[in-house]
Amino acid sequence: MYDSWESLRLDCLKCEKCDLCKTRHNLVFGVGNENAEVMFVGEGPGYNEDMQGEPFVGRGGQLLDKYLEYVGLDRKKNIYIANMVKCRPPENRDPSAKEQDMCITWLREQTRLIRPKIIVCLGRISAKRLIGDSFLVTKDHGKFIEKGGILFMGTFHPAALLRNPNNKPAALDDFIALREKIQEVCEHTYDL
Ligand code: URA
Repeated sequence: MYDSWESLRLDCLKCEKCDLCKTRHNLVFGVGNENAEVMFVGEGPGYNEDMQGEPFVGRGGQLLDKYLEYVGLDRKKNIYIANMVKCRPPENRDPSAKEQDMCITWLREQTRLIRPKIIVCLGRISAKRLIGDSFLVTKDHGKFIEKGGILFMGTFHPAALLRNPNNKPAALDDFIALREKIQEVCEHTYDL
């Protein structure tokens, strides 16, 4: 258990718990406000993230930033963004269950330090792992579920929206529902 971001980050940056460390250029720890009430969890770094060491900086990330902006959220100001796995899976394949198992301790520590009120799962990988294995994005997106004092909501992965733009209006509705939930349960997100 960590009581400082600095020691957590330093230990995480040297992680060699799974083979993804062998092919990474950069470990992608996370970005945003460490006192955020709202946390977003994606799947794992892609090419651009691996090169730059920051989550969601490719085309999907640009789309995510647009949705965030629409509901008054900003990765530099009032949210925190992390991934299920911190190192890029080769060829952007799904992270294996074992890789997720190895990596989830870092995410747990991040969550423990942030103590978010809301966690938004971006896509099926994080939603299945954090909300429940039966989660289906097309059916369950936008629903808030309380677990251990945190509200979880799953929505479409930005890369999936780029592949299938038909789901963009539904994704926007999820972000609008998120804004309403923030107004209901958060104290300072919209004051930051
Ligand atoms: N996809 C993710 O799930 N996370 C990133 O950081 C980038 C792309």
